[in-house]
Amino acid sequence: AAPTVHEAESAALSRAVVEADHAGYSGTGFVNYDNVVGSHVEYTVSAAQAGPHRLVFRYANGTTTDRPLSVTVDGAGATTVSFPGTGAWTTWRDVTTTVTLKAGANKVRATATTASGGPNADRLTV
Ligand code: GCU
Ligand code: CA
Repeated sequence: AAPTVHEAESAALSRAVVEADHAGYSGTGFVNYDNVVGSHVEYTVSAAQAGPHRLVFRYANGTTTDRPLSVTVDGAGATTVSFPGTGAWTTWRDVTTTVTLKAGANKVRATATTASGGPNADRLTV
């Protein structure tokens, strides 16, 4: 099926805010995770078919330190995904991981695992 774009600024946020002060994002802005463990962005992702699906996270990390996120689907199957520095907060890159989705709606949550919080999040394409 054609990929669906989920803008981070339209997702459910916890300890994270929508901002637009670094150019290059899609949609109307991006999400700035609070720099704490546990801040998160939760996307509602619909799958036509159960099984493995590719998640493409577009992000920026203007530091030189990885900002790993724990990715869960409906609260389960936590997998840690690396979000290395991109060189600047205006430089956006894609990181891909594969998860198992069920048919219908799935809650894909990306949670900061370090005290630096997550990278700035632009969108999730599934
Ligand atoms: C800067 C930057 C933010 C970013 C933050 C961080 O303040 O402007 O967009 O989220 O650093 O380190 O998390
Ligand atoms: Ca931040």
